[in-house]
Amino acid sequence: MENYWPLFIEIMDKYWSVALAFILPCFVVFPTLATVRDQRGETLFQLNCSVCHAGGNNIIIPEKSLKKETLEENGMNNLNAIVYQIVNGKNGMPAFGGRLTEKEIQEIATYLLEASENNFQD
Ligand code: HEC
Repeated sequence: MENYWPLFIEIMDKYWSVALAFILPCFVVFPTLATVRDQRGETLFQLNCSVCHAGGNNIIIPEKSLKKETLEENGMNNLNAIVYQIVNGKNGMPAFGGRLTEKEIQEIATYLLEASENNFQD
């Protein structure tokens, strides 16, 4: 088998700046995308959920709030449980399964869990 290392090193020696030019923007682009995704979850929450859950409260059944401790008590402090309830609804809460995509529901649930960590104080 031929040894390609010298060739590889020669190319990297010449073109490392080109390689860097591709790699460095990734450090900017990916965190930005992550932020955009978080903001989308928040926006979707404002549009679909805040009618009943503004500020992490619950105007229909006040004791079923979205505060950290309440979610814990009700076993709702994980993505699966939250996604399930958004898709299927429960009692006074409508089902969003037909209205939102799976991805949107994931984004809302991710935002909700994060926001409940500091009880929607941000
Ligand atoms: C029409 C009012 C209404 C809307 C809109 C609504 N919910 Fe609810 N939500 C409720 C009610 C009522 C409950 C309590 C259900 C029960 O357990 O009996 C609840 C409970 C919850 C719970 C569980 C809370 C707990 O402590 O057990 C989560 C999580 C939740 N909603 C998330 C959402 C999300 C996310 C959206 C938007 C996609 C949403 N809700 C939209 C009325 C609503």
